[in-house]
Amino acid sequence: MERYRALVARADGEEIASSVEELETAPLQEGYVRIRVAYSSVNFKDALAVTPRGNVVKQYPHVPGIDLAGSVTATRDARFREGDTVLVTGFGLGVSAPGGYAEIAQVPADWVVPLPGGMTAREAMAYGTAGFTAALSVLRLEEAGLAPGGQGPVLVTGATGGVGSVAVSMLAGLGYEVAASSRKADAEAQALLRRLGASELLAPDALRMPEGKAIVRERWAGVVDPVGGVALRDVLGSVRYGGGVALSGFTGGADFAANVYPFILRGVKLLGIDSVLCPMPERLRAWERMAGDLKPAGLLDAIASETTLEALPEALRAILRGEMRGRVVVAL
Ligand SMILES: NC(=O)c1ccc[n+]([C@@H]2O[C@H](COP(=O)([O-])OP(=O)(O)OC[C@H]3O[C@@H](n4cnc5c(N)ncnc54)[C@H](OP(=O)(O)O)[C@@H]3O)[C@@H](O)[C@H]2O)c1
Repeated sequence: MERYRALVARADGEEIASSVEELETAPLQEGYVRIRVAYSSVNFKDALAVTPRGNVVKQYPHVPGIDLAGSVTATRDARFREGDTVLVTGFGLGVSAPGGYAEIAQVPADWVVPLPGGMTAREAMAYGTAGFTAALSVLRLEEAGLAPGGQGPVLVTGATGGVGSVAVSMLAGLGYEVAASSRKADAEAQALLRRLGASELLAPDALRMPEGKAIVRERWAGVVDPVGGVALRDVLGSVRYGGGVALSGFTGGADFAANVYPFILRGVKLLGIDSVLCPMPERLRAWERMAGDLKPAGLLDAIASETTLEALPEALRAILRGEMRGRVVVAL
C-alpha cells in the first residue's frame, strides 16, 4: 500500500468542492498497471467534471484528470514492464475511473499507450487530450483528401483554446496556410496565433452567413472546429468543393442549425472526431505522428504553461470561462 496526493472533488449539496487529499493505493487488479504520474493536463472536460450538472461524472468523491503521463511502477499485464514510460488519455480516465490529477493512478492496461520515441512525458501532456484531438482532426482531414499546397487555407475555430492552438500549430508546421478564428482580439492573443503560424486572423463575426444564404464563396480547404454551435452552419457554407470539417467540440453550443446545400452542391464532408474511445491502432498512429511530423516547433514554449495540484481549481474555472490560451500542464 502506498500513500499519494490527489485532487479530490466532493459533492456538497449543489456545490462541488475540490482540494488536495492524501489517499492510499488499492491492491492492483489483474490486467491493470500502476503508474507514477509525472504530468497531467487541463481540458475543458476536466472543468465539467468538477461543475454541478457538468454531465461528465456520475459519482463523487472523484479524482478528475482525463490525461496522464508517467512511468509504470507495477504491472499485472504482460504487455508492460516496470519502468516503461507511458501515457493515457480518455477511455474512462477521470470520468468513470479515478484520473490523472494524482501522484499514482491504476488503470486498465488496455488504455495505456507507450510514450512514443522522441516525446517526453511533459510534451505528451502539453498535447494531452486536446492535442490528441487536434491530431485526429488533421488525420481525418488528410484521409478526406486534404494536402498542403494549392487547395487554399485551412480554418481553425476557437483558435486560442487547447484543440485550436495545437491544430493551428500542427497545420502551419505541415505547410498549410492557416486562418485562425478567435473571439479574443487582444494583442497577446493575436501575437500567440501569429507565433503558432496563423497567417490570417478572423473574428467569428467575420464568418457569419449573410441573412437568407446557405452557401457563400468557397474559401476553406478544410476546417478544424472545436467550437460547434450555431456558427458551424456558417463555416459549412464556405468550405471548398469536396473539403472536410473535422468537428470535435461544443464550446459554442451542442446544437447547430444545418442546411443541406454544402453537402449536396459541394460534397462537403462533416467528420466527427472522438478522442475518448478512439481504437488503439488509430490512437498509436496518431501519437507516432505527434512525435514526428505533426510536432509543433517549440511545443512546450509556444503552447504550454505549467500548474500544480494546489493551483488546479483556478485553472479549471478559467477554462470554463473560455479564457484558455494554449495548454496547461499539471506537474505532479
Ligand atoms: N471530441 C473529442 O474527443 C474532444 C476532445 C477534446 C475536446 N473536445 C471538446 O472540444 C472543445 C474544446 O476543448 P478545449 O480543451 O480545446 O477547450 P478550450 O481550451 O477551452 O478551448 C475552447 C475554445 O473555444 C472558444 N470558445 C469558448 N467559449 C466559446 C463560446 N461560448 N463561443 C464560441 N467559442 C468559444 C475559445 O476560443 P477563442 O476565444 O479563441 O475563440 C476557447 O478557448 C470542448 O467542447 C471539448 O469538450 C472534444
